[in-house]
Amino acid sequence: MLKHRLENFSRVDLVGNSTPLERLNRLSDYVGRDIYIKRDDVTPLALGGNKLRKLEFLAAAAIEEGADTLITAGAIQSNHVRQTAAVAAKLGLKCLALLENPIGTDAENYLNNGNRLLLDLFNTEVVMCEALHDPMAQMAEQATLLEAQGFRPYIVPVGGSNGLGALGYVQCAIEIAEQSSAGFVDFSAVVVASGSAGTHAGLAVALRELMPSTQLIGVTVSRKADEQRPKVQAIATELMQLLELAGDIPEITLWDDYFAPRYGEPSKEGLAAIKLLAEQEAMLLDPVYTGKTMAGLLDGLERQLIPGDGPILFVHTGGSPALFAYL
Ligand SMILES: Cc1ncc(COP(=O)(O)O)c(C=O)c1O
Repeated sequence: MLKHRLENFSRVDLVGNSTPLERLNRLSDYVGRDIYIKRDDVTPLALGGNKLRKLEFLAAAAIEEGADTLITAGAIQSNHVRQTAAVAAKLGLKCLALLENPIGTDAENYLNNGNRLLLDLFNTEVVMCEALHDPMAQMAEQATLLEAQGFRPYIVPVGGSNGLGALGYVQCAIEIAEQSSAGFVDFSAVVVASGSAGTHAGLAVALRELMPSTQLIGVTVSRKADEQRPKVQAIATELMQLLELAGDIPEITLWDDYFAPRYGEPSKEGLAAIKLLAEQEAMLLDPVYTGKTMAGLLDGLERQLIPGDGPILFVHTGGSPALFAYL
């Protein structure tokens, strides 16, 4: 049913076939529980990541509106901005990126390496700002300036997170449901990073339909649960309207003990999780999102916070280019 409804939306093919879903054999032995991973870090374009799924729908909308430019915003090391710039390059669009330095660092690698280095390769026009205090309004200002120069800009929200972008994670949930049933794996829980919230909202809405007995746990990477919950709920509401799904929005489970010291600043536990996954599985996490999320999964396991005793699925949302900016 969801698959059918997704077909009503225009889409640019950026992800291709399903991303792999694999068992992490050595990590599973190490922690004494079956851990699987959904490899959205290897979506095909420009070092991969979760944003390409959202951009399949957002870029299609931009093209339908006759846009010739994508505007988006984020941190200097934003994976989202890098993937949006890559999509723009691939589709022959201009890209303007409004960037902030949320941790106020002057470290050379943060300012110039990792994701930021790739923006220059994609010919992105970078505009720096003090802070993204109201990103939609700040991007609208940039749009007005571009329009005055004759461009036709389309604004991609921060993180690609609105109802339309979250359709990408309905697609991911469909893949997870198909792959887990083909492999006879019945997940107790799915664990994912919850940031600008489109990934979490898309999975929440679709997994409730497709795998109702599996708990979805969002590990926050930038704010406490009280502030994060309304963000996830707002996108889930918008998404359900788009998909014409009736009923209440799903329950949103959030763990918010793992993003400290703050968004964009690595934690000791996150760095330890990065090292563990690298040495056990040659799997590359990142210091801002997936390292902290994996730290949450490992701690939740140790504290027996994860229901049941079945396998756990970690959704790897990408981000490894940031290793070169932070480590
Ligand atoms: C690597 C990575 N993981 C997770 C997320 C969070 O996804 P969302 O913003 O949809 O909550 C992001 C967002 O930028 C990301 O870059």
